[in-house]
Order: sequence, then C-alpha cells, then structure tokens
Amino acid sequence: MPVVSLQNVSKTFENHVVIDKLSLDVFKGEFLTLLGPSGCGKTTVLRIIAGLETCDQGGIHIDGKDHTHVPACDRDVNTVFQSYALFPHMTVFDNIAFGLKLKKTKPGEIKQRVEETLALVKLSGLGHRRIQQLSGGQQQRVAIARAIVNQPLILLLDEPLSALDYKLRKEMRLELRQLHRKLGITFVFVTHDQEEALTLSDRVVVMNNGAIEQIGPPKEIYEEPLNRFVAEFVGESNLFDAEVIKTWGETMDIRVQGVLKTVKNRRGFQAGQRVKVLLRPEDMTVESGKQACLPGSFPGRVEEMIYKGTTVELIIRLEDGKQVVVLEFFNEDAEDISYDMGEGVCVSWIDGWEVVLPHE
Ligand SMILES: Nc1ncnc2c1ncn2[C@@H]1O[C@H](COP(=O)(O)OP(=O)(O)O)[C@@H](O)[C@H]1O
Ligand SMILES: [Mg+2]
Repeated sequence: MPVVSLQNVSKTFENHVVIDKLSLDVFKGEFLTLLGPSGCGKTTVLRIIAGLETCDQGGIHIDGKDHTHVPACDRDVNTVFQSYALFPHMTVFDNIAFGLKLKKTKPGEIKQRVEETLALVKLSGLGHRRIQQLSGGQQQRVAIARAIVNQPLILLLDEPLSALDYKLRKEMRLELRQLHRKLGITFVFVTHDQEEALTLSDRVVVMNNGAIEQIGPPKEIYEEPLNRFVAEFVGESNLFDAEVIKTWGETMDIRVQGVLKTVKNRRGFQAGQRVKVLLRPEDMTVESGKQACLPGSFPGRVEEMIYKGTTVELIIRLEDGKQVVVLEFFNEDAEDISYDMGEGVCVSWIDGWEVVLPHE
C-alpha cells in the first residue's frame, strides 16, 4: 500500500495550469525524488503533500486515508525547506525542540529526543549555539533535525542542499542516504540536479510542465529514458536523427549520419519511420582516423579534449557539422589517450548500447 497517493491532482495559479492531472504513489520507506527544471511544479507537489496547498481537482491519500481536506497541522508530514526557515534568535536546541514543546511533550522527553536527533545529524554538543553561530552546512543539519525529531511518517525535502557548496553538497548527500536508512522514514526529495537525484534515490520521478515524464529507478531513467525530454534532462547525451530502413523481430536497420547500422527494435518501430538515437558519451568510442573508417563508424575531427581526472572528454565534429561528445576512460595498460586538435578520427558506439526514441 502506498504511503502517499496523489490521484489526478491539478492545480492552477492565476489561470496557469501548474500541476496537470498528476498521479503518483510513494511507497513506505522509499527515497523518492522529484526531478525537473525550475518551474515545473516540484515545490507545488510537495506543498500539496504537506497540506500547505490545496488541489483544485483530484485527491490525496496518506497512509491509506483520504487527506484531501486535512489541514497541514494534522498531517504526519514534515518539511525541510530550501531556505531552512530556522528561528535565528533561538538556540539550536530550541529550534529543534519547538514542535515538541507545541505538542506539550514532557521536558525530560524533549531533552532526550533532541539530544538523540542532534547525534543523528552529527551536531552533538552544539545545542546551546545560536543559529547565526553556525556554518551553512550546520544550519542545514538543524533544519533536518527539526523536521525528524518527532519522527513523521513522511519527510519532505525541498532542494535542501542547493545553498551548499559542491563539496559539502556531496558529503550531505551521503549523510542523507545514511539518515534515511537509519530512520526508515519515507523521504520525498525535490531537486533540479540530476546527479543528486541519481545518487540519492530509490526511484526518480522526472517532471516537466506539471506532469510526469517517467518514473523509475535511477539506472532505468538513465539507461532507458522513455523520451527525448528525459534523455536530455538526465545526463549528457548525443542524439542522432535516423530513419528506419528495415525491421525484423526485435532488430532493425537504421540509417544514421549516412551510415547503415543494425540496432535493437524494442518499441516496434516500422520501416520508413523517423527516430532519434540516444547515446551517452561513455557509450561512444573513438578510433584513430589514420585509415578509412570501418563500416558503421562516422568520420570526424577532434575539436576539444577536456581532461577530467579519470576520464577525457572529447568533442568531435562529424563531417556534416554535427558535434558529438565522447567520454574515454583511462585504463591501466593503455597508453595515454591523446589526440591532436583537428586530428581525423572515427566515431562509433558500443553495439546494443543505443536507445532508439520516437522522433517526436
Ligand atoms: N503561490 C503561487 N502563485 C502564483 N504562481 C505560483 C505560486 N506558486 C508557484 N507558482 C508558479 O507555479 C509554477 C511551478 O512552481 P513550483 O512548484 O515552485 O516549481 P519548481 O519547484 O519546480 O521550481 C511556476 O511557474 C511558479 O511561478
Ligand atoms: Mg521549487
């Protein structure tokens, strides 16, 4: 049974449809991430779950019960806001204890729960500090502590890491995962950062214009995007225009960049149809172009070589002007990956790693 279930939820602001008949089930204990560009409606979905926003149409169930008209304060849901929304003049302890005091929890129990929560977010011993005396990362932890201290059924997190610098953000990602595991609470996380979504989540919901484009585990979203929007939003991709020439069973011949290639046909494409072929940079290969390119590979020239530590990113201009990004990994026995600028190369991809999408 889902712990949160949105059924056909719509929301309009000032004649502008922000959420469009969206249905979504969140399962107990999972780490679910809403991923999408700014303005696509992620925060609005969170606010509808929290009860901070009503839906114009559709309904919401929490823990199996209709919550469509249940006010925020009566929902077993807490939110960590992007802005943290802490009380700056209060101590860390009082910030975390605030909700428990409102609920008239006994002082002894408050103390114990706050201390336990401080330990969980690695802030033990800092209870007496004022919020202004904390770093950004520490404030972030207080915001999380305040939201988990009364062990809600569901924790909503709205871009909680966006104010932190890159290194801290990566550390906090790891800690959020560990916290999720320890607490066993359902997390609904919002981000516009695809790397964050892929590394944190059990399932990712890719949103666009108030609707869901795809839901699935990170690997599926990355390797089997359902459409061009998902392919381009999640990870880097090379997209080739192609035409289906002939199909048989789950295989087909396509013409791409003037070259004939045999690829999988998982979606029943027909001869004559136009398609897009998606290839991640790491699925593409480059060979020296000193000899003529083998059948099935495309001639081009190296335009840029970007060193990235364990990989090298090559920007290659194909003969028809199309630009392709290829990621090459260093491996122990191979000599250095090295090309001259403007050097002729042959570009191809690892057979079977392509994803063929409708042209749209
Ligand atoms: N209270 C509001 N009044 C009017 N428009 C709003 C309000 N809240 C959000 N919007 C609009 O709804 C759209 C979605 O917003 P939001 O859910 O915040 O997107 P996201 O979190 O994905 O960036 C945006 O176009 C935003 O301007
Ligand atoms: Mg938002």
